[in-house]
Amino acid sequence: MEQARTFFVTGGAGFIGSCFVRLVLAEMPAARVVNFDALTYAGNLDNLEGVEEARHRFVRGDVCDPEAVLSSLDGGTDFLVNFAAESHVDRSIHSAAEFVRTNVLGTQVLLDAARAREVGRFVQVSTDEVMGSLPERDDAFFDEESPFAPNSPYAASKAAAEHLARAAHHTHQMDVVTTRCGNNYGPRQFPEKFLPLLLANARGDEPVPVYGDGRNVRDWIYVEDHCRAVLAAALKGKAGEAYNVGARNARQNIEVAESVLDLLGKPRGLLKFVKDRPGHDRRYAIDPAKAERELGWRPRESWESGLRKTIRWYEENGEWVERARSGAYRDYYRKQYGE
Ligand code: NAD
Ligand code: TYD
Repeated sequence: MEQARTFFVTGGAGFIGSCFVRLVLAEMPAARVVNFDALTYAGNLDNLEGVEEARHRFVRGDVCDPEAVLSSLDGGTDFLVNFAAESHVDRSIHSAAEFVRTNVLGTQVLLDAARAREVGRFVQVSTDEVMGSLPERDDAFFDEESPFAPNSPYAASKAAAEHLARAAHHTHQMDVVTTRCGNNYGPRQFPEKFLPLLLANARGDEPVPVYGDGRNVRDWIYVEDHCRAVLAAALKGKAGEAYNVGARNARQNIEVAESVLDLLGKPRGLLKFVKDRPGHDRRYAIDPAKAERELGWRPRESWESGLRKTIRWYEENGEWVERARSGAYRDYYRKQYGE
């Protein structure tokens, strides 16, 4: 019989965290999840609609508040999986303070709480962006030995969080595992990120803003494949190790935009080149060989199947999109792109 594992997931009302919560409950019939999330502009209880109530407990709380974390974290919890973060690079360019607070201070608070409560394993969900930008050559990849060179305030705050997690392992012998993934796409992504923005604007026949020359490269992965890798790292990863996660799917932004427009049957004339992002990283590409070898993990979706699923989800969930695109999104959109 499967062991009844307990998870404390932070940021589980966000895009990736909510997918992870669903995955754990579906794949591990005896698992229980405490989902701790502050419900910032990016957190959305709609993302948890239909999640089984008996094995899932939602707690609204801030990862920077030690008392709130400690009062919800049971002693001996098997896994603390830290997704909670400010996650949008463009927002970090407007203002970095909240990124330092949540991503750095929040991770330290969680590490301290995990140690106090003797949590079995701490999983830090990080990003390829901590390694900065690769040269524009098809044979350059990030591996686990690539040096840290974060270029945006977001990436710098995630790098700092990783350093704290690493130090907790080294100093306090905590069991810590880190995953570093590339750009996720899929259902329930907050609409200001590139792919959902592209989908929503194209469907509404509105211009799709492409930064700079559109030749920046990102390595795209379907969100559930990323979550399977995080779960594999939690269950099979080696303490103190980091695992790069990617689906060998590095593409220029312009290619991504054209694929989506073609699938939607929309004209490429909708693409609108706009002013580049300051400090825009040119190229990300991940070598996932270590995760494949040591975790026995492989992505299940191809770019084509993942995109088709994503487009279908947004088509079938217009109400979710409408609700997510009201409120904080509107103010941000005006500030970032003008009227
Ligand atoms: P998201 O912005 O959609 O969700 C973040 C969640 O964290 C939200 O539910 C929000 O309410 C919650 N949160 C924010 N501040 C909090 C606080 N102080 N206390 C408690 N909860 C708080 O982000 P996402 O895209 O789902 O990313 C999740 C994680 O994965 C992040 O750590 C991010 O750095 C990492 N990551 C994301 C990507 C990507 O492509 N989106 C790629 C690699 C890694
Ligand atoms: P984004 O989704 O913000 O993720 P990240 O910055 O973490 O990679 O952006 C993905 C890529 O798309 C990035 O190269 C910036 C670009 N981009 C645009 O060209 N236009 C946009 O409106 C946005 C939001 C992003």
